[in-house]
Amino acid sequence: MIRYSAPAKIILSGEHAVVYGKPAFVSAIDLRLTCTVQEATADTQAVDETFVFVKNVVLAYLKRKDIKYTEVHLTYQIDSAIPKGRGLGSSAAFCVALSACLYHAFTATQPDKQVINTLAYQAEQQFHGMPSGVDVSASTQGGLIFYRKEFEFLKNISALNFKLPKNIVDKLILIDSGKPIESTAEMVKLVGKRYNEQPQLMEKTLMRTEKMTKRMVVAAIKEDVQLFADTIAENQQLLIELGIVSSSTQQLLSQLNQYGAGKVTGAGGAEKSSGYILFLTNDKEQVVKFLDNEKLQYFDFKQDFEGVRFIPKED
Ligand code: PMV
Repeated sequence: MIRYSAPAKIILSGEHAVVYGKPAFVSAIDLRLTCTVQEATADTQAVDETFVFVKNVVLAYLKRKDIKYTEVHLTYQIDSAIPKGRGLGSSAAFCVALSACLYHAFTATQPDKQVINTLAYQAEQQFHGMPSGVDVSASTQGGLIFYRKEFEFLKNISALNFKLPKNIVDKLILIDSGKPIESTAEMVKLVGKRYNEQPQLMEKTLMRTEKMTKRMVVAAIKEDVQLFADTIAENQQLLIELGIVSSSTQQLLSQLNQYGAGKVTGAGGAEKSSGYILFLTNDKEQVVKFLDNEKLQYFDFKQDFEGVRFIPKED
């Protein structure tokens, strides 16, 4: 039996813009998905298509790199605390944990993070079509990441050597606006369509997003809560311009405005709900009261610093 776990992530700034070569500022968060693989027996159920896809990615890599391996028949199990399809990177965490398990099972060695990142990025294409890779990088590395994809063959993944300061983290709350109808791939396509229709306007929005992403990093380094809140608010406007925030989510955010500043995080949703909202407030108590009243799900923002983790048998 082999077991790995991988964390969820939050895009603090730069979702969608990252698909167009702009940077994204991302944090791994302390919600985990655990994958367990073990040898299949005669009466284990057949594995699904997703598993076969990830397995083929791992086997192709081992062959290409001429790494010695033994193919074993496996079955797998997932335990996850990451809400699905709401911008928190659950499919990335799945790809990270499962590819780590499979590499380990076939080679009897623990893969390093670089290898897991490569495998999980390829596996993630099954879910997203053309993912930027930001989700799998955050889930693999943990901590804060400044990510920019220059080309398909050149992704700058900078693990930042600082944490989000406590004075900011303590004020953050993650709020569920509901599961979007659209998939991430569909949302990426939607933004692409808008880009093709209005390239100059969209280019401007993307440039302003880049500025905001960098400003947010500065706010984090300077431990400047007000600047961080301002970048969240501006970010939300930019995401509206990109067309990824539904009118009901915009309405929710304007109701919440009296308590602080919020933005959608991840791919978003245009029709109905838009997934999780990153919200900064000086008055958590009032926000929680409001959310309880509205029967909305939420949780505190807690960073993860470890990334993908091997879980030994005795744990
Ligand atoms: O909503 P998520 O967690 O799938 O994040 C998607 C982020 C995008 O920038 C919209 C797409 C991508 O591949 O980076």
